[in-house]
Amino acid sequence: MRKISNFQIVPEIIFGEGAASQLGSAAKKFGSRVLLVVDPAIVKAKLLEPLTAPLRSEGLRVFTFSDVEPEPWVETADEAGRIAREEKCDSVIGAGGGSAMDVAKAAAVLATNPGKASDYQGLDLVKKPGLAKIMVPTTAGTGSEVTFTSVLSRKKPKMKAGINGKYLFPEIAVLDPALTLTVPPLVTATTGMDALTHAIEAYTSLQASPMSDTTAREAIKLIGANLRTAVHEGENLTARSNMLLGSLLAGTAIANAGVGAVHALAYPLGGSFRVPHGTANGLLLSYVMQFNVSGCAEKYADVALLLGMSDNGDKPDILAGRAISAVTKLGEDIKIPRRLRELNIEEKYFPEMADSAMKVSRPLENNPRKVGKEEAIAIYAEAL
Ligand SMILES: [Fe+2]
Repeated sequence: MRKISNFQIVPEIIFGEGAASQLGSAAKKFGSRVLLVVDPAIVKAKLLEPLTAPLRSEGLRVFTFSDVEPEPWVETADEAGRIAREEKCDSVIGAGGGSAMDVAKAAAVLATNPGKASDYQGLDLVKKPGLAKIMVPTTAGTGSEVTFTSVLSRKKPKMKAGINGKYLFPEIAVLDPALTLTVPPLVTATTGMDALTHAIEAYTSLQASPMSDTTAREAIKLIGANLRTAVHEGENLTARSNMLLGSLLAGTAIANAGVGAVHALAYPLGGSFRVPHGTANGLLLSYVMQFNVSGCAEKYADVALLLGMSDNGDKPDILAGRAISAVTKLGEDIKIPRRLRELNIEEKYFPEMADSAMKVSRPLENNPRKVGKEEAIAIYAEAL
């Protein structure tokens, strides 16, 4: 008998080419004053106009906050929260990659809760509902549009940690593949590998359920079939649309089943070395899969088939090896960094990195094979 599972999903998801045009009517439901949080890449890609025009045409007052850096600091969220509070905003729109959406989610709860972002890093520390949150991902992606996490960096101690809880869950996600057409190849590649990591980690999570498995499996299939094209033919709307759908489904899967050891081991790369989240996950994915294989061979065998590998009637452990080869080959084809040394991360840092990875306890608890400090160091060594 299956164990009882619980599945939550963002209540309204608007998906399709041109979906951004509905942003105004979506925001108007919550009131007339909107904080729009974007990253500088949005401004550079001239996407500010397609985002603000539908808001203005509905007569909304828009306050724009664009000082969002990659791997954003807690202080950035504090500042965005201050503006939302002082301007008496009714909703916060986060448009961009994971950084902009995470800052927007944090700003929405900081507008109504006392204190600073750093006071709330942890699980369920936010006690009051925030402003309405509308998320518009422009990369595929972090899946942040459908998760209840805002990951923010701290300078002292140097680390990344999430604000996690029900009040971070967005009310509406607006996904328009046309907004992703200008994402450069390397960012498409690394964010796509983050989405694939979400799908594979949710599928093999000890918290996996029939619903999370269904979304994770479809995500693996979509990302496996479309990521190369999205990287090499950025203007291909079909590939971009399939990637955005894959990333959405993978995000939905992790919102329920959680992530695993890839994310735990990737956190110190972001926290201490400022390696972008997708780069860190994409690099570590195949090495962690190699370590995990004895804990989830049957599911990795499925992953191989979902990634288009042939069955040949082989046993699960053979097929599982094929899943790892498929992920390795995908990383090579889309030219993401494959080794820690390419990022100037040396062996001498491994014990400290492993120590901070051990603090990322929930993902480690979800992982299909137990990872302690020794194992973490061994995985980093494989990835050197
Ligand atoms: Fe991720």
